[in-house]
Amino acid sequence: MTLPGRSPATVISDLRWFRRDPLNFVRFLQSEYGEFARFYIGPFQACLVTQPEAVGTILQNADVYGMDWLLQGVLRPFVGNGIITTNGAEHRHARKLIAPAFHHSRLHQYTDFIVQYAQETIDEWQEGQVLHLQQVIPNLTFRVVVKALFNAHREDVGNPFDALTRTIQIFGETWRQPVPLPPWIPTKINRDTKRIIHQLDEVIMAIIRKHQDGQDHGDLISTLLNAVDQDGKPLSHRQIRDEVMTMFVAGQDSTGFTLSWALYHLSQDPAVQEQVEAEVAEVLGGRAPTFADLPRLTYTQMVIKEVLRLYPIAWMTSRAPNQDVELGGYTFKKNTLFYVSPFLNQHRPDFFPDPESFRPERFADEAEKKWPKYRYFPFGGGPRICAGQALAMLQATLILAMIVQQLDLTRVESTPVRPHAVAALGFDRPILMRVHHRERALAY
Ligand code: HEM
Repeated sequence: MTLPGRSPATVISDLRWFRRDPLNFVRFLQSEYGEFARFYIGPFQACLVTQPEAVGTILQNADVYGMDWLLQGVLRPFVGNGIITTNGAEHRHARKLIAPAFHHSRLHQYTDFIVQYAQETIDEWQEGQVLHLQQVIPNLTFRVVVKALFNAHREDVGNPFDALTRTIQIFGETWRQPVPLPPWIPTKINRDTKRIIHQLDEVIMAIIRKHQDGQDHGDLISTLLNAVDQDGKPLSHRQIRDEVMTMFVAGQDSTGFTLSWALYHLSQDPAVQEQVEAEVAEVLGGRAPTFADLPRLTYTQMVIKEVLRLYPIAWMTSRAPNQDVELGGYTFKKNTLFYVSPFLNQHRPDFFPDPESFRPERFADEAEKKWPKYRYFPFGGGPRICAGQALAMLQATLILAMIVQQLDLTRVESTPVRPHAVAALGFDRPILMRVHHRERALAY
């Protein structure tokens, strides 16, 4: 069968479109060509796949469908040989090393400081103050990640936030270039990359040095300092640095953006807002949340799952096979770039009736567990499924519950906010909210 899709003749205009507006470009490919759509990234052939079974094949068979080599080139200058850029046995080994930090038993311990940090942040917000949500909320969730994984505090890491924000922008700018320019050419991107890597390296090395006191801090860095590589040798500082940088990048604004969308939708939909308020009042009764409360904050979690359906932050991911493959009845050459997109599948009207509407009820009684696979997969799937999924859901639920419990946030403008995709799925405008503190709950 011939693969439907774009012709090499439109490669330049397609690339311009992809660069300017990737979300609408892939939407167009899907609606025009269906579940398998060929396109070109510069000289390279790519295929957008939205058929759930084929998405499963791509994501689950990591030994054949490895990390996309083009994306690897974009990420490597930052994350080196961290977990997201490795393949095969090296990747499996890295997953094992980081697993304890994300283990269920750790989440229990993380709850206390998530609640503490959320409370400190809420207390910092003044009555009547206007918040730029996409800045203040990711700042909070990033503090949590840094504390959970590196046992580090704000004063240890300073504020690497701007550098990380620019890092994500640089991914967006470079990953769509047909051939990234060599690092010695002094383009703005290359100069920024060098400066930012230097800045982040200093932060990371300071964290590592703090852990070299012979004690086990019970966090990811201590685990890595005591770990051995596949050959049985201790990990080098470079290897540890690469994993830490990966966590910085992967955990930076993902949960924060999800929460920002959730708060935006609550401000737009009074019925949903009231239902979350009622649940939080019933379960918490005015006190701080604990780990034991989570199973009862069901509607709050349904809101977050629906946000992740409409706005999966990692909206598209890619793989490349290390051999010729057959997929969906088509034959593909080794190294073809395969793109799969939670965003596209989660907006399909045949999977989700009225897909643009915000309806947390879709997730009633954990309905998602019964859906066919790869219709809903905001955290990916297979051996590279998001390592931070449980941590992200934990902090999103706790922080959303606390904000709803204590604050009334009202938007200061009425223009709808739309998703805007670069490397991650972001927003087309700032979400500005005015703070109103409800009567202070007794237990705080
Ligand atoms: C709502 C928040 C989040 C979403 C939607 C999300 C989504 C994803 C997705 C879709 C992937 C798979 C990418 C692929 O298949 O190529 C992924 C991978 C990953 N995520 Fe997350 N993520 C979130 C939060 C976090 C957090 C808080 C951390 C930890 C700090 C984290 C750490 C990772 C890591 C380390 C990987 C790479 C796993 C591997 O390659 O084996 N994520 N994430």
